[in-house]
Amino acid sequence: MKTFAAISLFIFTGIFTALFFGFDLSEASESLEYDDEQEGLEDEIVIKFSHVVAENTPKGKAVRKFASLVQDWSNGDIKVEIYSNGTLYNDQNEYTALKDGHIQMIAPATSKLTERFPQWQVLDLPFAFPSYEAVKQAYQGEIGTTLLNTVEKDGIKGMTFWYNGYKQVTSNKQPLLVPADFNRTHLRIMPSPMIESQFQSLGASTSKLPFNKTYSNLEVNFINGQENTPSNIYSKKLFEEQAYMTISNHGYLGYVVLINGTFWKDLSKEHQTIVQEALNETTDWIWRHSIEMNDAHLRKIKRADSIDVHYLTNEQKESWKQTFEPVYEEAENTIGKRLMEEIYTIQEQY
Ligand code: LMR
Repeated sequence: MKTFAAISLFIFTGIFTALFFGFDLSEASESLEYDDEQEGLEDEIVIKFSHVVAENTPKGKAVRKFASLVQDWSNGDIKVEIYSNGTLYNDQNEYTALKDGHIQMIAPATSKLTERFPQWQVLDLPFAFPSYEAVKQAYQGEIGTTLLNTVEKDGIKGMTFWYNGYKQVTSNKQPLLVPADFNRTHLRIMPSPMIESQFQSLGASTSKLPFNKTYSNLEVNFINGQENTPSNIYSKKLFEEQAYMTISNHGYLGYVVLINGTFWKDLSKEHQTIVQEALNETTDWIWRHSIEMNDAHLRKIKRADSIDVHYLTNEQKESWKQTFEPVYEEAENTIGKRLMEEIYTIQEQY
């Protein structure tokens, strides 16, 4: 009995002490202690930069470089928060999130703007660019300027183009070398009508799937293959689910860097210059490094036992080109005469 009374007294004292001394909720609602490192926090400008690829890719590294330049040059006034791998927004909703101001910058593959702005399909024409220099000329010349202007109607500012590399096709059925090999092959593509029609002309069927769903769809065999750059194929481990890769260089994957228009206008002139110059330097950097990054990733893919890498012969490439002729004939309707003439001029030059 004595023991019972002692235990009860102990519990009661404990509850009493906790209520009156232990759980002082007023403390939680009090304002934070003064901390001079927090000073100016509300003045800090934050750029949320969302993208869908891995960190160890041309775009992943370029965003990091841009972020550190902006932070350094603005003495920490502008902070760039990076959301990679589609962790905040994916390729289906990042454009709307940018437009609505939930994030301030994105750098989607140019193909992802083609459904909203059909002219962007000019960059997805098959074998559009005979060389890297030709890509650069398109981005920096009249094609680039015309395309960057299109997004203004969404209250978005087109800032620059970034480079990745030529796309290659992979499959788990058979090597994709001549058009007949594409029969009964189901491929993942980016949402671009131009890419869709080129693969359909080769005889394949396609699904427009988000980038970050590609691996899982290869894994369950919903798709048999896909097209992408070596850096994306390697960093997302897509090659592990594929038995064949063809170095076809049939298309180029590059990016457009976009910023929310209101956010841009609200920046001071000095901050606009910092952002613009950091982008110029990053564009220059990704131009110089994207080729070697893709080459390094291709070498790693070649070392994997699970996949055979083939190169298109000139003859095989010619058979693809012939198949694509109707795609070029129809393109003028969606892309317009002026941009088509511009792309033909670039093709003749390089
Ligand atoms: C893709 O969807 O395959 C690419 O756009 C991913 C990227 O951003 O490089």
